[in-house]
Amino acid sequence: MSNEKFVEVKNLRKVYDNGYEAIKDVSFSVKKGDLVCLLGPSGCGKTTILNMLAGLLFPTSGDILFDGKSVVKTEPKDRQIGYVFQNYALYPHMTVLQNVMFPLTVGKNKIAKDEAEKIARKYMELTQITDFANQRPGSLSGGQQQRVAITRALVQEPKILLMDEPLSNLDARLRLKIREEIRALVKKVGITTLFVTHDQEEALSIGDKIILFNDGVIQQDDMGQNFYLEPNNYFVANFVGNPVIDNFEVELKDGKLVGSDFAIDLADFDQDRFKKNLDEGKYTLSIRPENLKPVEHGHLSVKIEDVELIGRERILKFEHDNMQHRCLVDLEQPIKAEDQVELQLRLDRAFIFTPEGERVY
Ligand SMILES: Nc1ncnc2c1ncn2[C@@H]1O[C@H](COP(=O)(O)OP(=O)(O)OP(=O)(O)O)[C@@H](O)[C@H]1O
Ligand SMILES: [Mg+2]
Repeated sequence: MSNEKFVEVKNLRKVYDNGYEAIKDVSFSVKKGDLVCLLGPSGCGKTTILNMLAGLLFPTSGDILFDGKSVVKTEPKDRQIGYVFQNYALYPHMTVLQNVMFPLTVGKNKIAKDEAEKIARKYMELTQITDFANQRPGSLSGGQQQRVAITRALVQEPKILLMDEPLSNLDARLRLKIREEIRALVKKVGITTLFVTHDQEEALSIGDKIILFNDGVIQQDDMGQNFYLEPNNYFVANFVGNPVIDNFEVELKDGKLVGSDFAIDLADFDQDRFKKNLDEGKYTLSIRPENLKPVEHGHLSVKIEDVELIGRERILKFEHDNMQHRCLVDLEQPIKAEDQVELQLRLDRAFIFTPEGERVY
């Protein structure tokens, strides 16, 4: 029916039995064939949402539609969903092949064993686990078990694939490799996927779009780059970005943003980016570390405390107003620890937030 809204969640709420409201009026949609990342800190409600989509948990209110039809009253087994749990949940006493075949050989739609094996082997070929067919999960590495869990979720050819932090048990290099494989695989099979992670880099690298949650509320539902360039609020600006954004506590007085040892005319900012006229008072001026430039005469003068190499760039660390700050420069930049440096703030790339976290610039 609707490819734009293949999965649609409307005004979803979940209040647990103890009265805790884990999900507060959440609405979003997912396009057919897209891989969407649900991102957010621990406890923000990501698993709660997946469990409601899968039918393992009943919403307190709101609606969930697959392909235009409400599934809230549909049994989990009839929702055509594949679910990869965080801990893989493989059956330890079964071989890899038996694990992958299992969903096809139980329930009212079960099929003959030889037919099930044929389908299982087709998907095992795709995820490259055929070599392990007769091994038990315990004898496989984390990454290999991961692929078994994904294959088992795929054999029933579900319409929707849910993955809950599937890479969290893997080492850094394997994570990078497998996340690329997952994206390639779901794109090849063309399956609509919701991928839960608390890792912003992972979300940015594989998501067609990202939905960022905090405290049971959507903070931003957007393409990856917009989380950097146009964060909705203070939480988003600080959650996304590595190194983290630099925050300067300032006060607006007589047309100037006044920090502990600098003052910048409001007129120097890009006037088109103001979202409203600002009243005098306290604000936070936030700038990404790559937008602080060492120059001859800048907005503020700081003493570099430490320099850290990250790949092709260097992080200059300094303290300002009792807060740790970072500035990102090219590898060739000769600045070293103990140097006194003038920094220019790129105001056209800065953000201004109210104390409540509302973005006003
Ligand atoms: N059965 C339950 N009863 C009461 N509160 C619950 C229950 N399950 C989860 N919660 C609470 O609901 C909130 C959301 O939990 P959820 O498991 O969805 O978070 P999450 O985003 O998946 O976190 P994590 O990244 O740690 O897995 C948490 O504060 C959690 O303590
Ligand atoms: Mg969780």
